[in-house]
Amino acid sequence: MTPDTSRKLVNPRARHNFQGRTCSITGVGACVPSRILTNQDLEKMVETSDEWILSRTGIRERRLAADGETTSDLAAGAAKRALKQAGVSPEDVDLIIVATITPDMPFPATACLVQRKLGSKKAAAFDLEAACSGFVYGLEIGQQFIMSRTYETVLVIGAEKLSTIVDWKDRNTCVLFGDGAGAAVLQHRPNSHGLLTAVMGANGENADLLYMPGGGSKCPATSDSVAARLHFLRMDGRETFKNAVQAMLTAAQEALARCGLDISQIKCIIPHQANKRIIDAVGTRLGARPEQIFVNLDRYGNTSAASVAIALDEVVATGRIQRGDLVLIVVFGAGLTWGAAVIEW
Ligand code: UT7
Repeated sequence: MTPDTSRKLVNPRARHNFQGRTCSITGVGACVPSRILTNQDLEKMVETSDEWILSRTGIRERRLAADGETTSDLAAGAAKRALKQAGVSPEDVDLIIVATITPDMPFPATACLVQRKLGSKKAAAFDLEAACSGFVYGLEIGQQFIMSRTYETVLVIGAEKLSTIVDWKDRNTCVLFGDGAGAAVLQHRPNSHGLLTAVMGANGENADLLYMPGGGSKCPATSDSVAARLHFLRMDGRETFKNAVQAMLTAAQEALARCGLDISQIKCIIPHQANKRIIDAVGTRLGARPEQIFVNLDRYGNTSAASVAIALDEVVATGRIQRGDLVLIVVFGAGLTWGAAVIEW
């Protein structure tokens, strides 16, 4: 395989730069439902207050999908926008990866339903499940297919309808989550930069910190399991918080080190949008300036796999990053999983 020498590397030691083609993000898009659920609305549903939610999480409101609106609808909406921005026809997509923990159904893959909605007839399609880290996992996997010349165009989507697995009687969790989707088109662009590196990690030892007990092979749906509310997510918030800060910090540092970059060189940091206090703690420990860090969880809450994908679309749409700027995405989620990606935009 002939190395791509056209690219000016940030640091030639960066892992992905030795072999294969470069992988650029040529289009991004997002789709969020129109219905807004505010903290004031939640005050009428559970024993909580706007003051508690805002001060403990930074969230003011979140979006909720309509009853008939599915994860694949949101995913297809985000994908259409990303394809339009990239100037790519749906028929030209080679692979669709949907990162989600709220598929339309246990099977078939939501990616196949998105393929049908887009009309991407030649695309292979599969789901990946890495919870809130799913979009970064998807970028890394998609990038491998571009680098290896297996595919020309890969669509990576993070999409969730978390409102269907949130226990609306549990104030510990129901105030945190929202629905939405974000997408990115991956392609090789000669003389253009792109993903410089992506870090992925996991620790199954802490799988019980954030999980949904029911609905899988361990605990199939029965009337008893439904009555016991086993088909809703559960979280040990405090422990998850601690793990999130450490894992995001380590992943971000590893990604920067691989590229030989200092945090001051990053134009925009896009952290997983779970809790403003987690974002602040990671930012401080990384030595980042507040203006480097992008936050939109006040408007969307935690949308899991969609979180950083929606945020990436927003930083592009608002002109916060320009071509050539360095972007650091850092994520954390159930599994536990984590990841970070450095992109030269
Ligand atoms: O996306 C995957 C990653 N997810 C995360 O990273 C989430 C990580 N965790 C967190 O963001 C935070 O731990 C939470 C926002 C979930 C909770 O914040 P906290 O500061 O860790 O609160 P806590 O769990 O320590 O609870 C403090 C108190 C408790 O009352 P007591 O036991 O001290 O009397 C809770 O019952 O706050 C109470 N509480 C609430 N009060 C009003 C919990 N939820 C609420 C609520 N409204 N919604």
